[in-house]
Amino acid sequence: MRLNSPQINLIVKACMKASRSLIRDFGEIENLQVSSKGPGDFVTSADKRTEKILIDELHKAHPEFGIVAEESGMINKSNNKNRWIIDPIDGTMNFMNGVPQFAISIGYEEENDLKCGVIFNPILNEMFCAEKGNGAYLNNTRIRVSNKKNLSNALIVTGGPKGTSKIKEKIFSEYINISNNVSNVRKFGSAALDMAYVACGRFDGYWQRELNYWDIAAGVIILKEAGGFVDFFDLDNSHPLKKNILATNSNIHEQLKELIIENNN
Ligand code: IPD
Ligand code: CA
Ligand code: CA
Repeated sequence: MRLNSPQINLIVKACMKASRSLIRDFGEIENLQVSSKGPGDFVTSADKRTEKILIDELHKAHPEFGIVAEESGMINKSNNKNRWIIDPIDGTMNFMNGVPQFAISIGYEEENDLKCGVIFNPILNEMFCAEKGNGAYLNNTRIRVSNKKNLSNALIVTGGPKGTSKIKEKIFSEYINISNNVSNVRKFGSAALDMAYVACGRFDGYWQRELNYWDIAAGVIILKEAGGFVDFFDLDNSHPLKKNILATNSNIHEQLKELIIENNN
């Protein structure tokens, strides 16, 4: 990998350490699926265990840095100058069902500006990473978004709505509207990997409502550095960590945005 900032090196080191226990935990899932207890509690503890390893590593190096982490919340909340954004397992539902489509996702910000990010699927051994101004990589290979220009040929990915969503109708009608205008729509169950897959051209675009910032922080910098375009829409200023995102190869951005706006009216 040609990225070399101290922050990215730290994230990679933390990911490698945490992934050892994550891989072990994933191996356990198979046994638990057939047990009467089921994998539920075990999965919650795998999320926490992974996050603890990540936080310990990052915190040890920079005890003063802010952290926003899914399981632990905020640490050093007042430090906006340097901040890690952590999702220890993005794609927990997949993890829990023995589907190897999940990842550790970590972004790093300075003054609210994303500087680098890593998304690591330890089962497929795919590490997506990017540094502002230095490009995006999948393992050691530079990645770029797809070159598709026509929405009708595009393969789009999305997620949601969650069972608890209060805007299911809106999300479903948006889905229908978009699905009628693209080649096909996928649901893969990990927002972080959805973003990474747009970054390397496997998908042409991604949109989703009701996300949390830790789902997509690393994905935002990776996608931008791969030549993609990211928009947040319908922002709720009272909940800055809640996000609705549109992320594309940039060519199809306006066409896809139009469909979302059209459906909103
Ligand atoms: C979830 C995944 C999923 C998305 C959900 C997220 P989690 O994160 O990213 O793809 O549809 O909105 O909450 O719970 O697996 O970390
Ligand atoms: Ca997540
Ligand atoms: Ca998670």
